[in-house]
Amino acid sequence: MVMLSKCHRGTAANHCRLVHMTRHHRSRPTHWTPQEWSRQYFDTYGEQEWERLEHSAAGRTSFRQHAALIREYLAPGSHVLEAGAGPGRFTAVLLGHGVDVTVTDISQEQLRLNEDHVSPSSHARVRGRYQMDICDLGAFPDESFDATLALGGPLSYVFDAADAALGELIRVTRKGGILMLSVMSLFGALRVYLPAILLQLRTPEFRDRISGILETGDIPITDAAHHSCRMYTADRLAALLAAHGCTLLHMQASNMLTAGEELATHDPHTYHRHGPRTSLDDLLTPGTVRLLEEYEDAACRSAGSVDSGTHIIAVCTVPE
Ligand SMILES: C[S@@+](CC[C@H](N)C(=O)[O-])C[C@H]1O[C@@H](n2cnc3c(N)ncnc32)[C@H](O)[C@@H]1O
Repeated sequence: MVMLSKCHRGTAANHCRLVHMTRHHRSRPTHWTPQEWSRQYFDTYGEQEWERLEHSAAGRTSFRQHAALIREYLAPGSHVLEAGAGPGRFTAVLLGHGVDVTVTDISQEQLRLNEDHVSPSSHARVRGRYQMDICDLGAFPDESFDATLALGGPLSYVFDAADAALGELIRVTRKGGILMLSVMSLFGALRVYLPAILLQLRTPEFRDRISGILETGDIPITDAAHHSCRMYTADRLAALLAAHGCTLLHMQASNMLTAGEELATHDPHTYHRHGPRTSLDDLLTPGTVRLLEEYEDAACRSAGSVDSGTHIIAVCTVPE
């Protein structure tokens, strides 16, 4: 465990910055552990992490899908561990749903933002905020929580230690309790960044790096500023959960129709060749927002699209 302690605005970026990473292929590899990298990255990323789920239709869809599953699977009155809680988007949803929450994160700044963003009227239901590595929840006894959440990729950020993290999440959840996770999607990233990936595959100096990322799902840690994580396929995530004895109840995409639309708006590198950029937000009217939401809700939950979004969301029960 790192330590126990009670415990920035800008243009938000998609965390699956596969292409962005490849542009920095010459950066010297660091010897940081994933935990050291995550701590400094999310301390610096700050408030942008709060904005990630509101600045684009894809982010808002992801927020809505996660929130709907929280309400669907978690019982009001239960006590939930939110590991890697970040600035508190889902902490607020949990509290609004009448759940008591223990918040943990590896980034002190994200914990500070979490406290800032959660409405003071709900503070009483937050049982504590702790700076803690998801791979070592040793401060909590076995079966401390009715349910455990790790949303938005905490498992993706620990690379090979995902087994250790999952083991800890299961240990602290009561037998048969709910575990809800979301991880970055490999095929979703491929779909979203396809034009740039194809461009880079034509360049010998990038080819090996891109091929390695596609083969392993790992965007390796190179330097402080550039996003790094393990991306999963639905099959790989399901196999990981099964290996730990979890029973999968539900798996879906975080977004589908809208995944990648923010790139068309915000990433000139990828789309500068594709003419004037139009944001979906420029096209949406109050009526079509609702229509898009209905289509997205159906698309995200369609079995065929589970690998198509920026994230894959899984809900399971931990072993009895
Ligand atoms: C993309 S953010 C997601 C935040 C929030 N769960 C959400 O979905 O909006 C990932 C969070 O995981 C945290 N994190 C990364 N590695 C971690 C680790 N080893 N242990 C605990 N938290 C970690 C980061 O600090 C960050 O706040």
